Amino acid sequence: MRIDHIGIAVENLDDAIRLYEETAGLVLTHREEVRTQKVRVAFLGHPGEAEGATEIELLEPTGEEGAIASFLRKRGPGLHHLAFHADSVGREMARLKSSGRPPLQEAPRPGARGHHVCFLHPKDCGGALLELVGAP
Ligand code: CO
Repeated sequence: MRIDHIGIAVENLDDAIRLYEETAGLVLTHREEVRTQKVRVAFLGHPGEAEGATEIELLEPTGEEGAIASFLRKRGPGLHHLAFHADSVGREMARLKSSGRPPLQEAPRPGARGHHVCFLHPKDCGGALLELVGAP
């Protein structure tokens, strides 16, 4: 599976967008609030790259609740997850479950950009939180 995006938890979305624009020349490709996850997200990519190229996902909590708010309290801003593209998240979930690495969710759930996602616990993945993203 190719890397779809790298997720980074940030305190302030606008400041972080500016940082990646100014340091790496990336451009904003998508911005959205994902209410169910209590985050505002921004995706940035390289302006010359084709659709499907690896992007950076910046995640800012909308309040005190939710996984990103809790992550920031415990660890501060920084690398949060690595996301792999899956043609069918549900099919990959079934495969992972049968191989002894069950995802954290029972079924793909709606995420940003109209995609579906699931997460694998860092304890099963050498310490990194992994996301699968794609069609349900
Ligand atoms: Co993500």
